[in-house]
Amino acid sequence: MSKALFQNGSYINGQWLTKGNTFVVDNPATQVTIAEIQNAGEQDVLEAVDAAYKALPAWRAKTANERSSILRKWFELIMQQQDELATLLTQEQGKPIAEAKGEIAYGANYIEWYAEEAKRIYGDTIPSLANDSRIVIVKQPVGVVAAITPWNFPNAMIARKVAPALAAGCTFVVKPASEAPLSALALAELGEQAGIPKGVFNVVVGTDAAAIGKVLTQDSRVAKFSFTGSTAIGKLLLSQCASTVKKVSMELGGNAPFIIFEDADIDAAVQGTIVSKFRNAGQTCVCTNRILVHESIAKEYTQKLIAAVQNLKVGKGSEEGIDIGPIITNKAAKNIKCLLAKSIDSGAKIEFGEIQSNLGENFLNPVVISNVTQDMDIAQNEIFGPIAPIIKFKTEEEAIKIANDTNVGLAAYFYSRDIGRVWRVSEALEYGMVGINSGSVSNPAAPFGGIKQSGMGREGSKYGIDDYLEIKYLMMSGLEK
Ligand code: SIN
Repeated sequence: MSKALFQNGSYINGQWLTKGNTFVVDNPATQVTIAEIQNAGEQDVLEAVDAAYKALPAWRAKTANERSSILRKWFELIMQQQDELATLLTQEQGKPIAEAKGEIAYGANYIEWYAEEAKRIYGDTIPSLANDSRIVIVKQPVGVVAAITPWNFPNAMIARKVAPALAAGCTFVVKPASEAPLSALALAELGEQAGIPKGVFNVVVGTDAAAIGKVLTQDSRVAKFSFTGSTAIGKLLLSQCASTVKKVSMELGGNAPFIIFEDADIDAAVQGTIVSKFRNAGQTCVCTNRILVHESIAKEYTQKLIAAVQNLKVGKGSEEGIDIGPIITNKAAKNIKCLLAKSIDSGAKIEFGEIQSNLGENFLNPVVISNVTQDMDIAQNEIFGPIAPIIKFKTEEEAIKIANDTNVGLAAYFYSRDIGRVWRVSEALEYGMVGINSGSVSNPAAPFGGIKQSGMGREGSKYGIDDYLEIKYLMMSGLEK
């Protein structure tokens, strides 16, 4: 591992912090400490906001082409170091190395996308009511952006926020999860190499999430706040943002239904289930949480799903051929086991799998359960683990009703080959993203985000940059001779 990519303190105003207390980052696969990190606190985050505020005028004054070139260079450096960055990511987060490489490319592709989008921030002219005037619309950067990002995608969740922010001309302060902060610091190092000026991109790593979060949500110099994480924390941060009326983006929890209708290609649906259920050991907001299958094909689907699940290999993400790495912490693994135990108590049946792996406490095996009903805790809460719960339904209306019976609405998936049904169900599902005959919706070219209590705002695509721009209207009058 190159020394430059392995940093152990916050990156503020182009400087690496080394002073003060430290905290440790453990490899979730081995429980061995892999880094001792300078523990940033309130004063450090205030300095980061100050740096971003002071760097703003010069950064927003750069031409779109200049910002674009720097972002493009950043993308190229990340892709050149893809293997090293993936190794670091697997060490701190646990996901299989192939998935980690995929995440590095996924994150880098947001940076590439917004390097291009920086040049396409168009305004408008609107016909005016009077001949001597014109209405002109310009778009301007919102200002300093602050973000808090989760441990499940230590690289990509930062990339897809910072890339549109910098492209728009904003400066940026991020607090990555303290469980997995090394990828964020490596991104900062490569950002510096790419020519991002000091103060434009700041990374604050610390364990006092409440104190850091308070500054990022309440400092009046921060114009916009963006968060990816749980709905419960999102609500708290949202309320903190109210005092300074910040522009806010929230990418919160999901409870994704995966519906297989009787006309579906069952083999394709099984492949889609594997992709959407077991990615990152089930630890994503868009992972399938409930499998709804038509009663007439439930037996065949379940048998085929079990056959596919049997091939999944659990183990250390650093080893070749692993499909499911460890759960991030022992506590998280316990919560998943507890949800499973409760569902069995309530009448669910284990079709396949023994949850506890003998590899260690936070290695969980994939488990398939049937007889699940919508009122069970496992169907009401985000599992964030490798359990596949199967609920049977009789009609299209019933499937839609069950799918929508949740206060969140991030991603949903369904399999059908009936074009009429495809339209009806797509329109009826109360979700921000719908995978149709696909178990994957994540794509830099598409708007990622949810409705209901899954949040607000979109990340990625041409729409994602709007969250970092203000619309200004110019009434241009006195045009007649
Ligand atoms: C998430 O889990 O929050 C993001 C998943 C993705 O981008 O695919």
